Amino acid sequence: MSLYKKLGLTTAILSLALAGCQTSPQSSGGSEDIAASTGDKVVNVYSARHYNTDSQLYKGFTEQTGIEVNILEGKDSELLERIKSEGTNSSADVFITVDAGRLWRAEEEGLFQPTTSEMLDNNIPENLRHPEGLWFGLSQRARIMVYDPEKVTEQELSTYENLASREWEGRVCIRSSSNIYNQSLVAWLIEKNGVDKTEAWAKGLVNNFAREPEGGDVPQIRGVAQGSCEVAVVNHYYLARMLKSEKAKDRLVGKKVAAFFPNETHMNISGAGVLTNAPNSQNAVQFIEYLTSPQAQEFFALQNNEFPASKGIGLDPVLEGFGEFNASPINVVAYGKNGAEAIEVMDRAGWK
Ligand SMILES: [Fe+2]
Repeated sequence: MSLYKKLGLTTAILSLALAGCQTSPQSSGGSEDIAASTGDKVVNVYSARHYNTDSQLYKGFTEQTGIEVNILEGKDSELLERIKSEGTNSSADVFITVDAGRLWRAEEEGLFQPTTSEMLDNNIPENLRHPEGLWFGLSQRARIMVYDPEKVTEQELSTYENLASREWEGRVCIRSSSNIYNQSLVAWLIEKNGVDKTEAWAKGLVNNFAREPEGGDVPQIRGVAQGSCEVAVVNHYYLARMLKSEKAKDRLVGKKVAAFFPNETHMNISGAGVLTNAPNSQNAVQFIEYLTSPQAQEFFALQNNEFPASKGIGLDPVLEGFGEFNASPINVVAYGKNGAEAIEVMDRAGWK
């Protein structure tokens, strides 16, 4: 079951007493409900991100504004179901999740309301937010290549498109097509190159697989380190995490491989939006605005070794060490829009 964190408990309970008990009739367990759901000084956040340091970040918001933050953490799909079933009785104000494709799914269900905020528009680049303000990117992840420097030279690498060419036959590792990261990558390629070219690419890529897709991104990095494949496509933070690991074994794996950021690097986001039935929508906007402030941006991104969504924020040394790269300017909304087509393309290409 999801972990429920209540910050500033005393005040939260106090505001519950003043506001009246507004628990959600359809929520699953009484003890884990966001009880203090409404009241002037509360924001209720449903988050599919799970990092121990989140509470520290949210405390900063409470200190600044006096608004208590209640967090309900869970899996993306569980939280979405819950918001839907709670309907107009939902106490949820903000939904935070990972991957633009998932934000789009919530948007399609009509769960987000548009937010107009000059601060959000200034802090978040246009390609990392919804054009009508339904959601905003808060941090960025790059889908990069990890390669074996003993078998591959950096000069051989260029684009994702190139990984489908014959020279890579039997050398590429990537996880399955059921994963949202790959669906968003393919949706991005569709936006860039169209469906036909992307399908031909997917067929070529599948032909170049070193092995059937298995496991998440970390096993692909291990696959390169162990010699099962020569190049893998993974999210950058998995490599950063290994390089910073407390386990010598993981650091060794991280050091055995090298990172390559493709010529136009596919970027994805963690993001948040104000929910349609938010009882505290003003507080919700303030909360998301806070998450885009320079100090919060640094913190929010660092927790998962991600890149901040805002420009001009200091980077973690490991990320800094990856060097400059050319992030794709394509708006991440394309990932949701082309998502269903991407799944069909991968299916037709035989990408398991
Ligand atoms: Fe991930």
